[in-house]
Amino acid sequence: LRHFLDIKGLSKSLLTEILDTADNFRGIGDAQVKKVPLLRGRTVVNLFFENSTRTRATFELAAKRLSADVLNLDISASSASKGETLRDTLFNLEAMQADAFVVRHSDSGAAHFIASQVTPNVAIINAGDGRHAHPTQAMLDMLTIRRHKGAFEALKVAIVGDILHSRVARSQIHALKTLGAGEVRVVAPNTLLPTDIESMGARVFTDLKKGLEDVDVVIMLRLQKERMDGALLPSESEYYRYYGLTRETLSYAHPEAVVMHPGPINRGVEIESSVADGPRSLILDQVTNGIAVRMAVMSMAVSGQTQQNAA
Ligand code: CP
Repeated sequence: LRHFLDIKGLSKSLLTEILDTADNFRGIGDAQVKKVPLLRGRTVVNLFFENSTRTRATFELAAKRLSADVLNLDISASSASKGETLRDTLFNLEAMQADAFVVRHSDSGAAHFIASQVTPNVAIINAGDGRHAHPTQAMLDMLTIRRHKGAFEALKVAIVGDILHSRVARSQIHALKTLGAGEVRVVAPNTLLPTDIESMGARVFTDLKKGLEDVDVVIMLRLQKERMDGALLPSESEYYRYYGLTRETLSYAHPEAVVMHPGPINRGVEIESSVADGPRSLILDQVTNGIAVRMAVMSMAVSGQTQQNAA
């Protein structure tokens, strides 16, 4: 592994290796790996051009648990505001002998662009680019599903909400299909579905209750208004009436179905509080698993090693 930009195109064996490595870091219960020397002497730079709570904080914690030095560049206070181009900012950070850039950007393709500009000494990890991809989010979701539900082959998974603007949904669908999930469904109004959704191998539902019927995993998404470009927004109350996950709508899923959400959650818009905070919710477990997955991806990318290319 060198860069980690997208799930699309990665093999099942590589995704499984990431999950196995992350599982070891995650441990059982509270017995998580708190510190290992794998990246001692290495430098990880967090480059977040777009806001974040979970991804940025868990990348920082993951890098620290790998014993790396971590630099969080405050883009709003950087010399980008004085006219310095992105390329020049990158070249200067490279000159500080950074080993990895963790990049979040509102433009789709930004992480790929940065990967094309830097020398091969720097690993680029995509922390979310526009509506395109959020590969570490998808992998932490896969780890959460595998730890709670076991083999992917037996599972029906429904992804519900604003699929059109969601980089998370795209990466989740690629990951679920590659890992062999039994059935991947998307549930959304037609206006929030991308035109290529069926070619990605997902079964499409516009009715929430039908889409949830007998599923093992329900993944909720928020309305991503920041990417709607001024288009007509659905009214939140109407959206909740038709697509909100409540105790009543969750009853259509399998009785042991689990509930997930990448966050941030909007209570009373896509999910009822009693479901988000309820016994079947894995939302905070996803966050904890994010540290382990990011430790796995960073250690594999910065060392350039996987079992596959070490063989
Ligand atoms: N899930 C996720 O990417 O959350 P943040 O935007 O807070 O990083």
